[in-house]
Amino acid sequence: MRDVAVIGIGLTKFGELWDKSFRQLITEAGAKAILDSGISGEEIDAMYIGSMSSGRFVGQEHIGALVADASGFSHLHIPSTRVEGACASGGLAVRQGYLSIASGINDIVVVGGIEKMNDVSGTSATGTLATAADQEWESFFGVTFPGLYAMIAQRHMHEYGTTKEQLAQVAVKNHKNGALNPNAQYRREITLEQALKATMVAEPLGLLDCSPVTDGAASIVLCAAEKAKKYTDKPIKIIGSGQGSDTLALHSRRDICTLDATVHAAKMAYKQAKVTPKDIDFAEVHDCFTIAEICAIEDLGFVKKGEGGKAIENNITTLDGQIPVNTSGGLKAKGHPVGATGVAQIVEIVEQLRGEADERQVKDARIGLAHNVGGSGATAVVHILEGM
Ligand code: COA
Repeated sequence: MRDVAVIGIGLTKFGELWDKSFRQLITEAGAKAILDSGISGEEIDAMYIGSMSSGRFVGQEHIGALVADASGFSHLHIPSTRVEGACASGGLAVRQGYLSIASGINDIVVVGGIEKMNDVSGTSATGTLATAADQEWESFFGVTFPGLYAMIAQRHMHEYGTTKEQLAQVAVKNHKNGALNPNAQYRREITLEQALKATMVAEPLGLLDCSPVTDGAASIVLCAAEKAKKYTDKPIKIIGSGQGSDTLALHSRRDICTLDATVHAAKMAYKQAKVTPKDIDFAEVHDCFTIAEICAIEDLGFVKKGEGGKAIENNITTLDGQIPVNTSGGLKAKGHPVGATGVAQIVEIVEQLRGEADERQVKDARIGLAHNVGGSGATAVVHILEGM
């Protein structure tokens, strides 16, 4: 296995981007990452593109070839592959790119992630997202993702005494961080009262407990670590990569408050990186709903099971806390263009490790972790990164 480094990053603004097409968004992110890395098109060995449901959102499949074509690379015939794993599509694309370099097959890989979700109605977007749940046992009966995560939240409250206020505090924190991120969908702070009084979506999750419906794209350039310094003096090494899966349907899980796919992916990544949760300085975790961030910090081992709510209440995860979580604003405030999210998380980790996160900069950021989940936890990907 060879070491792999990130040598370029690119992100579009996240939000309701009516004036930009699918291909404009992904090529904007890709061009930024390629420019940032200093590579030329001829040097790209392969491309991996995460996209969950471009067919239903914009009526376009065959995304691998489309992105290479729209990027002006069709004459180079670069192998370009679309990767799908619901909301973890981006994280999986990163892992595929990583594995292909680690194995020695490729030297330079461009990874992209994209979703354009606002070109369809809210109802249609909700229906499309629900295709990532179990069709026969869940979506057919009308359950949506806010509904599934609401069940997790209810159980967490029942088992561990987690409160609605603690859920709301996740949203308040992430909106505060998002306000500092120029690319975030919501650059506004919210109060605890606003979060608690927001329109109910699925009890106990209100509007401000939910990540929004978002358009956006992200890209990174990966390179064999031994060649990385040729392109940048600040390469960021991927020191651990892990992936896990679990039952598609929530009811089949051992414990719906624990995402075993996350636990498994994290174990793999920690083992490879030779670090423990205590060594992680900051993290981007999959907060598609506020309860998801509480489960994530527990399943990643930052706090004990059941203590996530208390940790939020005690400000352990704020920008200046013991372990800052979702410095970008997270899915909650930065936005959640599902196929792009896993790649965008790596962009934030790299910005932090390079010391380029401006007002969001974590002091002494040395090791960062990215955690991306598909569905209600049937897929999870964890990456751990460190400066070289
Ligand atoms: N957080 C903060 N503000 C939000 C928001 C969110 N999640 N969603 C919408 N808003 C704001 C909008 O900007 C708008 O504000 P404005 O009136 O100032 O312009 C207002 O709330 C109403 O927006 P609208 O688009 O009508 O909301 P909606 O009711 O159609 O959708 C949700 C709200 C929560 C249902 C939708 O965001 C949603 O489905 N989120 C979950 C997405 C999801 O499941 N992702 C996959 C996770 S696994």
